[in-house]
Amino acid sequence: MTIHIGAQPGEIAPTVLLPGDPYRAKWAAETFLDAPKQVNDVRGMLGFTGHYKGNPVTIHGSGMGMPSLSIYANELIRDYGAKTLIRIGSCGAMQDKVKLRDVILAMTASSVSTPSSGIFRDFNFAPSADWSLLKAAAEAAEAKGVSAHVGGIYSADVFYDERPDLNEQMTRHGILGVEMEAAELYNLALRYGVRALAVLTVSDHLIRHEALPSADRERSFGDMVEIALEAAFA
Ligand code: ADE
Repeated sequence: MTIHIGAQPGEIAPTVLLPGDPYRAKWAAETFLDAPKQVNDVRGMLGFTGHYKGNPVTIHGSGMGMPSLSIYANELIRDYGAKTLIRIGSCGAMQDKVKLRDVILAMTASSVSTPSSGIFRDFNFAPSADWSLLKAAAEAAEAKGVSAHVGGIYSADVFYDERPDLNEQMTRHGILGVEMEAAELYNLALRYGVRALAVLTVSDHLIRHEALPSADRERSFGDMVEIALEAAFA
């Protein structure tokens, strides 16, 4: 057990999928895993371990934002020995060519700051995905006929951001979408020598000012979970 995870040693699989929302973790585990067992509920942050095509998998909530994700990713990697961590979550599109429900595979994650900024100080480290996972996820998306964009994303500190000029610069520099967790997941994975990727579904559009109705979100979320699971065991 750690400060934030009540699982016993051995109850967390080497492969962990990390949705922000703990209820999405429950839904994904019950929908895609064989014999899921709840392994955490500390502070309502749910985690489940089961099997996908015979492989052990944990699906555990990360909470919203990099400070929350950092707590769970640190404990999963350093205390439970997680070796492959895949964020599954939603994002806002920042390019016209990216449509609602499309999947984005985050090759890099830019940020204004992360919980690791204190380490890097004036060094602009470029957090990047694990290549084997990225390649496998692109292939899994293609095999499923899902439209996937591969490129850079922006991990924001603030959801209700009042700096619109920043979004314009992101769009101008090809950033595909904005979310709030991937950059620190990549920092930690690279620091501890494990694999990480963010597989994201577009839930809203910052240029077109569109958003998915909540009923549609579950279906696109399912594609993303399957892409992540296929990539993890490719
Ligand atoms: N996650 C989903 N949509 C988002 C947005 N517009 N900004 C930040 N995180 C998001």
